[in-house]
Amino acid sequence: MRVVTVASQKGGVGKTTLALNLAHAMARRGWRILVIDTDPQGAVGLSLSSKLAAAPGLAEVVTERRALEEVLVTTRLPGLSLLPVGQVPPQDTHGFGSYLADGRALRRIVDELAGRFDVVFFDTPSGFQGITLGAMRASTHVLSPVQAEPIAARSLTQLLEVVGALRDEGLHLELAGLVLVMLQMRQSASLGVADELWGQLGDLVLQTTIPRDVAFLDASAAGVPVGLLGRRPPLVASTFDQLATEVEGRLSLNRVEDRDDGPIPLVD
Ligand SMILES: Nc1ncnc2c1ncn2[C@@H]1O[C@H](COP(=O)(O)OP(=O)(O)OP(=O)(O)O)[C@@H](O)[C@H]1O
Ligand SMILES: [Mg+2]
Repeated sequence: MRVVTVASQKGGVGKTTLALNLAHAMARRGWRILVIDTDPQGAVGLSLSSKLAAAPGLAEVVTERRALEEVLVTTRLPGLSLLPVGQVPPQDTHGFGSYLADGRALRRIVDELAGRFDVVFFDTPSGFQGITLGAMRASTHVLSPVQAEPIAARSLTQLLEVVGALRDEGLHLELAGLVLVMLQMRQSASLGVADELWGQLGDLVLQTTIPRDVAFLDASAAGVPVGLLGRRPPLVASTFDQLATEVEGRLSLNRVEDRDDGPIPLVD
């Protein structure tokens, strides 16, 4: 089982969007996927439904008020499950973060889930402290969205430092890659940043980029991944199918039944 923390130094760069849409695309490709919301502001729950935002979840599991089994939410897509963050009173947010920071509570949950999912995604609050650090400590990989804007490169240094420090602690944490998001294809400044990052960081930056697209706002408003915006989803949904393929490679995900995979005859 791969455990992937989706994290970034900056807020509002598209972590939740990336986690949810990538999870959806991977589940459609046949993987068993779980998204765990660790953001006390309930990012995943809030963006999907008000029912999820009010549901018990991670907070109740780590405080042993609920069993994991009781709070896992299945979705219409058989391969995709969610673990909402649960109810964290605003005044307890800091305590929740400090409690999770050493990674032990989240690792216990990951151990309990082993074998039931192929990939677990942690959606995290912005910054690399508290909850996010705990999620990274319980993870095998980190995936980070990077907004294609001039200051992006600076916050990347912090990400590389944090991953380096955790590896020094003896953790086997790998940077699965950086995903350029909110790319404005018609703006040279945006493309310039993308070009610069590829130049500086090479393979660390995934080839698939996510454009800035109004469909994400429509999807947020409707509480669905972009791939579920309609029977014929918008073009941007296909970028997540492409990203899913690339991330599978980065996570070295191989199915036993895929070993003898090959061309499938169109006509028998
Ligand atoms: N590629 C995109 N194009 C246009 N809008 C986007 C894109 N990605 C995300 N958004 C929008 O930007 C806003 C912030 O995205 P999101 O909530 O995913 O960021 P976040 O990093 O999870 O934020 P936070 O740090 O608050 O958790 C949302 O309204 C989302 O719909
Ligand atoms: Mg978020």
